[in-house]
Amino acid sequence: MGSDPVDTEAMDLKEKRIIVTGCASGMGAATVRAYVRAGAQVVGMDISEAAGNEVCVAAEGSGTATFLPVDVADTDRVQGAFAAAVDLMGGLDALAHPAAIHAANSASEVSASAWDHLFAVNVRGTMLTNQTAHKYLKSAGGGAIVNFGSISGQRPEPSAAAYSATKGAVHAWTRTAAGTWGADNVRVNAVLPAIRTPMFLAAKEGISEEQLTEKYWRNEQSIALGQEYGDPDRDLGPVMVFLASDASRFITGQLIPVDGGQCNVR
Ligand SMILES: NC(=O)c1ccc[n+]([C@@H]2O[C@H](COP(=O)([O-])OP(=O)(O)OC[C@H]3O[C@@H](n4cnc5c(N)ncnc54)[C@H](O)[C@@H]3O)[C@@H](O)[C@H]2O)c1
Repeated sequence: MGSDPVDTEAMDLKEKRIIVTGCASGMGAATVRAYVRAGAQVVGMDISEAAGNEVCVAAEGSGTATFLPVDVADTDRVQGAFAAAVDLMGGLDALAHPAAIHAANSASEVSASAWDHLFAVNVRGTMLTNQTAHKYLKSAGGGAIVNFGSISGQRPEPSAAAYSATKGAVHAWTRTAAGTWGADNVRVNAVLPAIRTPMFLAAKEGISEEQLTEKYWRNEQSIALGQEYGDPDRDLGPVMVFLASDASRFITGQLIPVDGGQCNVR
């Protein structure tokens, strides 16, 4: 068959210009480190300025990382920060979007204000960052967007009702955006991680002993590869490189668990 030879350098991020939201902590920070190691030019963004800047300054490798502040729930701030990042890098090839918040609340008692706040950051933030990135990626001839879903959006999550609803919305948005922007060669996927981060540790605070036990059996015990959450740099970083790189050029609209076999997505 007349196909091109396999491009073994497709996972190289050299010359790729990438925005990473949520860069101050957890998987956003690990993603900045992985991209700089893979040679990318990165702008890390977060609402937490000092910690975000620290992560970008400390990232080591053949690429570079610069910090810009953003609130992903705010239209003007997203558009302003993305425009500044594109100016700085001379264009955009990919967006990684881990920024999100988590809160403990039950389906019976979650308040309208808690619901709205989680939806503003997690769902509106995904729409705003993706829509703004798409504009630049389209004009560059294509690119990749990596969103962050969750097993919480796939199955009941009794201790985090509103959060689980936001992640279900991120999954639906990811499929729809991929279906819409495929014509522009813009790929949109979501990873569904089970990774040890400050968010994972905080999710265990403020819930009852009974909920904690249930959480353990639903989460750690259901992880086939070792019954433990993964490491952000070792287990998530390489997958983020793959999904931003040309090696994944024929993958879009997918929900991809990076969770040691905790969930199956059909
Ligand atoms: N940790 C897990 O196992 C797990 C499981 C499923 C899904 N997720 C998802 O993975 C992603 C990353 O999670 P993490 O565990 O690294 O979380 P984290 O809490 O360690 O990091 C989240 C980052 O987002 C930033 N952020 C919050 N609100 C913001 C806003 N309005 N604007 C800009 N930045 C903001 C925070 O300052 C923080 O730096 C999230 O989308 C989360 O829902 C995590």
